[in-house]
Amino acid sequence: MPANLIKKDVITALAARAAGLDQPQGNPRLKQVAARLLTDLMVAIDELDVTMDEFWCGIAYLTQAGKQNEFGLIVPGVVLEHFLDLRLDEGERRAGLAGGTARTIEGPLYIAGAPISKGEARLDDGTDDGEVLFMEGQVRAVSGEPIAGAIVDVWHANTMGNYSHFDPTQASFNLRRRIETDEVGRYRFRSIMPSGYACPPGSQTEKLLQAMGRHGNRPAHVHFFVTAPGYRKLTTQINIDGDKYLHDDFAFGTRDELIPRVERITDAAEIHKAGLNKPFARIQFDFTVTKEAAGAPASIVAREHAEAA
Ligand code: BEZ
Ligand code: FE
Repeated sequence: MPANLIKKDVITALAARAAGLDQPQGNPRLKQVAARLLTDLMVAIDELDVTMDEFWCGIAYLTQAGKQNEFGLIVPGVVLEHFLDLRLDEGERRAGLAGGTARTIEGPLYIAGAPISKGEARLDDGTDDGEVLFMEGQVRAVSGEPIAGAIVDVWHANTMGNYSHFDPTQASFNLRRRIETDEVGRYRFRSIMPSGYACPPGSQTEKLLQAMGRHGNRPAHVHFFVTAPGYRKLTTQINIDGDKYLHDDFAFGTRDELIPRVERITDAAEIHKAGLNKPFARIQFDFTVTKEAAGAPASIVAREHAEAA
């Protein structure tokens, strides 16, 4: 069939009716968004001459993705989660906010309610014989003032790239903790060096990426939410320098400002002082959070999360 069979104003009118724009009831914002998305979809079908087979293949794909609960994976994989971050960055810039630690995507693997402790924590349960990682730093305001009582909510994958809760072999809340900063705004934790996440083999996400000639790997990383009363919530990650996928993240999460130096400690005296018997890694990373500002887009996002059992 040739392309461009239907006039644009016919498509717009169809979308308006389908979205209920001619009805007084319903949710006006939803109707506005639905009309626009339907218009754009029908225009794309017409311009690209999407065949019936292609269309129904897409619907079957999405149906299966929904059944397998994969939209949280597909969204970052097709850059949309990063795009939302870029919009938030620009909204903040226009509201006059600057100087905070760069944000990056949350991803789909956060579980609320991790154990909380003051100043420091050990994240791993000792069952994974990975490289020991110590990470520490300070939470500060843009003015440089340390923030006591901030919450550093941290989560990361194990040496196989898997996350507790989603990986039934790991204990509940393994590699997930909330740390309240001490009186000078400091946090510190001991854990193991994570490996990068890979999309589940055979998943709908992997199938889509392969069809686009892409892979489904992320570089090793550690996630954070940093919150403190009166400050904007920071959602971010650090990436582990040297990872093969550092600048080739399928989820577009890497930012240059979020690649701290990884110090490898091999000195016997330092190893002994750390209470260990093998070399370990150390990362120092400070977080800077911005004050709430009138007109800035919300930094707290209402998003469904998997729940701890
Ligand atoms: C992750 O943070 O591990 C992740 C992010 C996006 C998609 C899949 C995983
Ligand atoms: Fe992750």
